[in-house]
Amino acid sequence: MKQAVLDGFKAQFGEKEGVKAYFAPGRVNLIGEHTDYNGGHVFPCALTIGTYGAAAKREDRTIRLFSMNLDRFGVYEVSLDDIETPSPKAGWTNYPLGVVWAFAKRGMKLDKGFDMVINGNIPNGSGLSSSASLEVLTGFILRDLYGFEVSNQDIALIGQYSENNYNGCNCGIMDQFASAMGKENNAIFLDTADLSFEYAPIKLEGAKIVIANTNKKHKLTDSQYNARRSMCEEALAILQKSLDIKGLGDLSIEEFEANKHLLTDPDMQKKAKHAVYENQRTIEAVKALKDGDIEHFGKLMRQSHESLRDDYDVTGIELDTLAEEAWKIPGVIGSRMTGGGFGGCTVSIVKDEAIENFKKTVGEEYRRKIGYDATFYTVEIGNGPQVI
Ligand code: GLA
Repeated sequence: MKQAVLDGFKAQFGEKEGVKAYFAPGRVNLIGEHTDYNGGHVFPCALTIGTYGAAAKREDRTIRLFSMNLDRFGVYEVSLDDIETPSPKAGWTNYPLGVVWAFAKRGMKLDKGFDMVINGNIPNGSGLSSSASLEVLTGFILRDLYGFEVSNQDIALIGQYSENNYNGCNCGIMDQFASAMGKENNAIFLDTADLSFEYAPIKLEGAKIVIANTNKKHKLTDSQYNARRSMCEEALAILQKSLDIKGLGDLSIEEFEANKHLLTDPDMQKKAKHAVYENQRTIEAVKALKDGDIEHFGKLMRQSHESLRDDYDVTGIELDTLAEEAWKIPGVIGSRMTGGGFGGCTVSIVKDEAIENFKKTVGEEYRRKIGYDATFYTVEIGNGPQVI
């Protein structure tokens, strides 16, 4: 992949001195879904798949961007002086340009432009954070090329800021954090209320993490996602009239049960219930993992999916089919949707000897019910952004 992206750079922009190759990972979340914008816990890990980039500084104020995945889009060229607002013409480049814009908002203004080529190996629209990996990649490249003093954690926060304020998705911090802070063979137990975190080794003896992609074509993720988030914020505002809390993640299950009557809209109550229970489930799951009780971790993954299906309403028939068929298979320790939902992927922990049967049986049932194929990948937990 390194040579491919360097060759891609050369093909678009010619030989350039000082061009370097970079990588930033995608992520999969093991448990703790739709908790990160509620001040709750998440438990994602970085993957060894992600976005590769090759970049070099220029002597003028031009930025030129090219994606080897979307080569028909061609080279997008823009001046540093013309990126104050996102342009519909800019397509995918609004992600890197949003990061440049957000760096400037933080006082890190670019004096000169740059050329960048990217090449990703995260399946498109799979919900494995191709956009967050592109944001983190861009932030990492800007730090390297311009010598800005900015930590990986800040690169994550800047990426989120640009996605919220430039690209219009009100996402939480999980994806960018997982990409920027990833550590090989470890998941990140992150408290989104204060960004405190610890690494938890994932030692799956005799089992692997398998991702199944629904390959669902049309997703309405952003608008539905933003709607869920607003509903949680409304629920919080109502509860805050009676309770001293900063986020739904501050509530224990007992506190929620004792106060849920304050949420008179039944749908809102269900959404808040998910946020509270999922947060507690995530804390419990990480404890189970530390205690070596992977079976219990798996049960909590299933409960997480059920809550996302029944209360939070972000799964849909494609994700439900993948998860529900997986639960039937001996050797599947746990399975659930991962990421925002409405399509994208499930994550499963599957015993080595069951993986082939898992892919075959779930794959066949999926095709029978949904009418097209799911795709399966066995993944590994990798490191955060790096020069390669
Ligand atoms: C998307 C968002 C994250 C998080 C998940 C749901 O991936 O980008 O911030 O909210 O959905 O857990």
